[in-house]
Amino acid sequence: MLNNSIKKAFSLSKYAVNSKYSLRCISAWANVPMGPPDPILGVVEAFKKDSDPKKANLSVGAFRDDKGKPYVLSCVRKAEEIILSERLDKEYSTIAGFEPFNQASIKFAYGENSKPLLENRIAVAQSLSGTGALRVAAAYIERFMGPSTTVLVPKPTWGNHISVFNDSGLKTTDYRYFNKQTNGLDIDGFLEDIEKAPNGSVLMLHGCAHNPTGVDPTPEQWNQIMQVSQRKNFVNFFDVAYQGFASGDPHKDAYSLRLFTDNGLPIILSQSYAKNMGLYGERIGAVSIVCKDTEEKNRVTSQLKIIIRPLYSSPPISGARIAERVLNDPELNKLWLVELKGMADRIIDMRHLLKNYLVNDFNSKHNWDHITNQIGMFCFTGINPDQVARLKNEFHVYLTSNGRISVAGVNSGNARYIAESFHNVTK
Ligand code: LMR
Repeated sequence: MLNNSIKKAFSLSKYAVNSKYSLRCISAWANVPMGPPDPILGVVEAFKKDSDPKKANLSVGAFRDDKGKPYVLSCVRKAEEIILSERLDKEYSTIAGFEPFNQASIKFAYGENSKPLLENRIAVAQSLSGTGALRVAAAYIERFMGPSTTVLVPKPTWGNHISVFNDSGLKTTDYRYFNKQTNGLDIDGFLEDIEKAPNGSVLMLHGCAHNPTGVDPTPEQWNQIMQVSQRKNFVNFFDVAYQGFASGDPHKDAYSLRLFTDNGLPIILSQSYAKNMGLYGERIGAVSIVCKDTEEKNRVTSQLKIIIRPLYSSPPISGARIAERVLNDPELNKLWLVELKGMADRIIDMRHLLKNYLVNDFNSKHNWDHITNQIGMFCFTGINPDQVARLKNEFHVYLTSNGRISVAGVNSGNARYIAESFHNVTK
């Protein structure tokens, strides 16, 4: 029963037609079940609610400085000041986004001497960061390769990959990737699994700094993967969310993408500027597809636009303007590359610090070499879900349940405490 004051307020509201209708409105979602929290962003929500001063957030992959604070790059601040001083308008972007950004983005990924780039045969659209690029590309695959297309994904992969593909109407199949015994790549399992997959599948690859494991193939192993892919006529879908952030060198981090592209394999690419420019909330990235010639590129671009228009019409302008300046302005670009290297180096330093505390201060009997062997933002620690729960409940240290830590959450102030907590739950 509604109490009288609610009834009165409701009878005055614009929705009140009669009490029967009103009651039906109130219960319209009665059967909607409560959804589980997101495996990554849900941990951040739990962390925020924790009031313990020792708490540490190693869950989401977002860079922090050595004081544990979010870091806005100076090149980004400078680009913003220039853009602000130009008093630009706020007109809609085109459906495919800000073209100077799009062109700069593919040049950054494929390299300025890339043949498909020089031959003007890469279809590209601005996207809502890496996730938006994945989603638009997945819709494209569903539409033009068909809903029965198999998308081969590494096991494990970034949790959201599976949701993006499934929500786009595509099925995924795992290929072996991580070897728990060696904490490294299971290259034999990888090659065996993709060899068995249907010809013409989509092979989803993390271009560098694999998320969540931090384990990448060597150049020789990339070559082996490419041989199988070529033989099986796979479409190679590269997710490159960490270019320059993994090693500090954007060319080195683009090795796999450029190897496959330069050898003429079919390529779809999703790019993100969340990590390498620290533009997380600006949601800026790009989706691109390498085509046979310019005529094909124009057709493919037209279809990307047809997918984007009913989804969100056109992308936001702010992040695209910033990223374009940083990519195209020689001074800002120089500054960016220095800052990028600085972020990569800080993460590498934290890997050494954490391992050093575990091994030398706490005399952990476990082998923690993988902390320094793995690369990029994440380390796949090998800590199991029960230990993850203990870390959260007893030590206020937050990581995802698969044992992944964002090394960017470690700093010189909390590294010892984190190492001690890891030691306590693993001894
Ligand atoms: C992560 O893996 O933590 C990041 O890519 C952020 C996200 O959206 O999951």
